[in-house]
Amino acid sequence: MATNTVTDEPPELAMTRRDALKLAGLGIGSVAGLGLGVGGLRAATNGAFSAGAGDPYGLWHDWTSMSGVERVVAGGVLACNPHNTQPWRIAVDGDTIDVHSDPSRRMPLNDAGGREHFAGLGCAVENMVIAAGPAGFTAKATLFPDGTASDHVARIVLSDGGDGQDRDLAAAIPHRHTNRGPYTSAPVDLSGFTEQSSRVNGASMLWITDKAVREQLGRLYVEATEAITADTAQSTEAFTWFRSSRSSIDKHRDGLTLDGQGLGGLTLFAAKLLPAQSRKDGDAYWVKATREVHTATATAYGVITVDDVAERTAQVNGGRLLARMHLTATTLGLGLHHMNQITERIDRDHAAGNPDVFSARWAALLGRPASTGLLSFRIGHPERTPGLSPRRSLDDVVTG
Ligand SMILES: Cc1cc2nc3c(=O)[nH]c(=O)nc-3n(C[C@H](O)[C@H](O)[C@H](O)COP(=O)(O)O)c2cc1C
Repeated sequence: MATNTVTDEPPELAMTRRDALKLAGLGIGSVAGLGLGVGGLRAATNGAFSAGAGDPYGLWHDWTSMSGVERVVAGGVLACNPHNTQPWRIAVDGDTIDVHSDPSRRMPLNDAGGREHFAGLGCAVENMVIAAGPAGFTAKATLFPDGTASDHVARIVLSDGGDGQDRDLAAAIPHRHTNRGPYTSAPVDLSGFTEQSSRVNGASMLWITDKAVREQLGRLYVEATEAITADTAQSTEAFTWFRSSRSSIDKHRDGLTLDGQGLGGLTLFAAKLLPAQSRKDGDAYWVKATREVHTATATAYGVITVDDVAERTAQVNGGRLLARMHLTATTLGLGLHHMNQITERIDRDHAAGNPDVFSARWAALLGRPASTGLLSFRIGHPERTPGLSPRRSLDDVVTG
């Protein structure tokens, strides 16, 4: 993941010297008065004055006033998903919603086993099932109705008569965002994640709270991040999903953006004044953020476990549980940051025929085979409000 490297407040990261020199010449007063200057133009081009506003963000604002099947489908589109690839094609026929994988939105180097792609589709399915009840429907989801080799990931049939189930989770749909900023040191009360809400068809939660284990896991994340950034092909693929200007956000309406990186307000504004960052600078920032912010302020880690991470249905069911966990965290006021560098490297090494340098240590920290640890995230009390991520319109993703 890439973003600019400037900062205004601890435990943020130090800005690079080159960027610091550029900013030093501006000063806060000048930043405020940049309207007509070159910096102001760049700030406008990069969306410094329009974060979270405009068409790519419309669904977040419009969702609560939507109704019927449209509300259910839009709830799915607002789900968390890997690299914001929005890996779905959706077909709607009356009260039947078919969710398909869009293979053109896979990331073969960063997600060699497809676990994140199919988990992201599971997230959309679960969001739709959760959205259905309060929208007045009972939802019945069938995974892979044409078999697991097919792109047809799920069929959701809606029938009239929703119950009150999952009302709180549904209300959280437009408020759920990935939070990559720092978290406070306050401990997390995991009792809000009830046993019942923490299990979906063979996918379960494993929580890691022990300080010593968290620290070891933190070091493994940093090492995996370094391995990704040292792998030019993998890093380059990830960089193609980074949208560094407002015009590319407006054009693609997907991918990762500066607004989603958990930067402080002034830092974010300043980052938008600067020229778009190179892949290498972005990678250096990412390693530093993983070490100094993400792992340093993780209060707990959650791992989604399944019987076999390579199995398609398990990947989708793991994603369904992940969506449920993220919405539950939102209702509890907790920040959640998906972190999958370790498993991305395990799958990459396996596919490339490299020595497997992560599986044994990942398994030791989980206390179970690496082949059962599907996805992971950190959780905690956030210091910052996360930014919105763009979404393609329903017209773009719904076919038929
Ligand atoms: C299966 C899956 C894997 C993800 N992996 C990562 C990750 O490794 N690092 C990260 O920062 N975000 C990760 N994310 C979060 C997505 O990038 C995020 O959901 C997407 O950009 C949309 O933003 P939003 O969650 O704020 O709506 C992952 C999400 C999913 C569902």
